Amino acid sequence: MNKKLRNEVEESFKKHFREKPLMIFSPGRINLIGEHVDYSEGFVLPAAINKGIAVAMVKSSSKNSKVYALNKDELLDFNLDGIKKLPNGGWRNYILGVVAEIQKKGLTVGNFNAVFGGNIPEGAGMSSSAALENAFVFGLNKLFNLGLSKSEMILISQQAEHHFTGVKCGIMDQYASMFGVKDSVLLLDCRTLESTTYKIDFKNYKLLLINTNVKHNLAESAYNDRRAVCENVAAVLKIKTLRDASKEMLDGIKDELSEEDYQKALYVIEENERVKKFSQAIVENNLNTLGDLLYKSHEGLRKQYQVSCSELDFLVDKAKENNDVLGARMMGGGFGGCTLNLVKKDGAEDFIKEINKSYLQEYDRACSVYNVKLASGTRILK
Ligand code: GLA
Repeated sequence: MNKKLRNEVEESFKKHFREKPLMIFSPGRINLIGEHVDYSEGFVLPAAINKGIAVAMVKSSSKNSKVYALNKDELLDFNLDGIKKLPNGGWRNYILGVVAEIQKKGLTVGNFNAVFGGNIPEGAGMSSSAALENAFVFGLNKLFNLGLSKSEMILISQQAEHHFTGVKCGIMDQYASMFGVKDSVLLLDCRTLESTTYKIDFKNYKLLLINTNVKHNLAESAYNDRRAVCENVAAVLKIKTLRDASKEMLDGIKDELSEEDYQKALYVIEENERVKKFSQAIVENNLNTLGDLLYKSHEGLRKQYQVSCSELDFLVDKAKENNDVLGARMMGGGFGGCTLNLVKKDGAEDFIKEINKSYLQEYDRACSVYNVKLASGTRILK
């Protein structure tokens, strides 16, 4: 967590509301492997990171609630009765969504004032939205003694996203942000919502995120389309989700599917297998296998699942040319955002120089590079 961020948010709160607030921090996440399989109840391997959102909040006795977004210098002033999604509401809808979903459970939230700020690059696929939802549900739970467990809170965050932003996301982001463990990744079973924690040490290697700094705008509709394909194929197979499918089962209905849908479902089956192999390779400390699986995951996302884009493919292809990189792949929903790279520590500087130069040359725009640490999940700051 970043002290500077906390101080800025707390200072801004005191300036606006002249009180000492409750402080919450909620992190963004990375995902090592298991992409686009959470909504098929598959296996994913995410981790919370040391970048996130800090919120300051107190109860208020006025008729409305006020939330100030420090980075954007924008204010949301709203009434708790009849909360509706705002057209083009941006960040506001995440907060309105969380409050509305708490109310739907028959729980009572009073008015509150809040200020929030963050240091997760927006649109980078590091889940600033899950961090924001979790920060608010966590803070409101504490402030109004709602008695919600962490597992209930992440479902509220997810429902907020479904109903107030229209993205029918899985549970990975909210889970990782809420339950993250320092220096560890979580092998999450998206059916049972149980996870195994793996402490991870990359030895002479480290993770680097490289942001394409693009977000193609078909991302949201394409996300829901992919989810629909998975649900349709599961229905043809007469199973609940693709989690229960095997290649043999899929081959049995191949004639009933378009080639595109067959490939997408096959991707899900294969990616779930890769997650299991990846976890095994962590235990065995086999970094080469980790790298290899990252490249394979990318190939699947690019060719079979078709959620990559030229900028992401370019970065992964460049990574392949460098012997100090063991593996790389696009991360998150796709169509922009970051690649995740497993890079030799003492080769990182040259790799970054090289990639900065070639990306700029190719796209006439800079990419950004971030070092991330694996960190704890959503928490109260003392
Ligand atoms: C987004 C969603 C997640 C997950 C990823 C892809 O981040 O919010 O639920 O589906 O995309 O793995």
